[in-house]
Amino acid sequence: MLPLPVLEKARDELLDYQGLGMSVMEISHRSSAFDELANKTEACLRRLLSISDDYAVLFLAGGATMQFAQVPLNLASPDRPGAYIVDGSWSKKAFVTAQRMGLARLAASSEDSGFKSIPPQSDWDLEGNPAYLHYASNETISGVQYPEPPESKLPLVSDMSSDILSRPVDVDKFGVIYAGAQKNIGQAGLALVVVRKDLLKDLPAGIPDLQSWKIQHKQGSRLNTPPTYAWYIAGLVFEWVEANGGVERMAQLNQEKSDTFYQFLDQSSFYVNNIPSEFRSHMNIPFQIVDESLHGQFVAEAEAAGLSSLKGHRSVGGMRASIYNAMPIEGIEALIGFMKEFESKAG
Ligand SMILES: Cc1ncc(COP(=O)(O)O)c(C=O)c1O
Repeated sequence: MLPLPVLEKARDELLDYQGLGMSVMEISHRSSAFDELANKTEACLRRLLSISDDYAVLFLAGGATMQFAQVPLNLASPDRPGAYIVDGSWSKKAFVTAQRMGLARLAASSEDSGFKSIPPQSDWDLEGNPAYLHYASNETISGVQYPEPPESKLPLVSDMSSDILSRPVDVDKFGVIYAGAQKNIGQAGLALVVVRKDLLKDLPAGIPDLQSWKIQHKQGSRLNTPPTYAWYIAGLVFEWVEANGGVERMAQLNQEKSDTFYQFLDQSSFYVNNIPSEFRSHMNIPFQIVDESLHGQFVAEAEAAGLSSLKGHRSVGGMRASIYNAMPIEGIEALIGFMKEFESKAG
């Protein structure tokens, strides 16, 4: 969900953006009005995450999945592939994409144990001078999250699609942070890329310019016509985060929301979350009913009670509560209330 004040502001400005008599969707991406919007949006993000001038900030089309390819294209070579930690479906997708390009090696995987944990750092195989170390900060489907970024001398590349802006992050520890927008940034189709400027390189001949972070940086992320409306929504969301206490406050609220929900699950003998507590996500909380035959009925009745999008990802089944920044604590309380009632009827 998006914060209501963001949707209201977008609604109010829909037909007339800042007195121009046009929607943001209608103005040129090369106009001074859009320049101003782009600058304001980037500046707000830089304040939120304390991003220094050593880093470029890009707003690119294609979502996070496009970055699964752009990361190796821009950072790796066949002699120096990227190293990947695979601890869930998304980091696996990132790895497989880069591997097909001949630009990845597997450093560690928790697939054999069902993606319920992060492989211990002592087991990571980082031999062969990899160009970078890639990991997904939060595995959206299985609900596994790194409590802290891993320590590494390699440029650290993190897919933060589902936990960016949910907690403070020391950007200086990273080579690259990227994120699809549709969780904590706004509208699908856009990806945010924060990349240390010394990593911006020319791409090998034959690779389209659109894939080059270096060229996109030179062009202000506007080599071609970008997803301007998604960019505008991102700006409204950044302003909302800032007005509501920044990422520090988001982290407190997310802690409170997730603690409340995990405590409820852990005292229950009817519902279960089977991720060890040290790896549990503050953003996506998968849960099951011990009697799995009740899952369909649970999801249908929850939907009817106005609690939507609780069905777990098709690859894992069960249920999942996604409690991104815009979800208020009241949403968790309403869910718990419904779950108690469901248990008393069906349990
Ligand atoms: C952690 C993570 N990485 C990547 C993606 C893919 O994002 P997109 O659909 O923007 O390509 C998602 C989508 O939900 C995700 O949760």
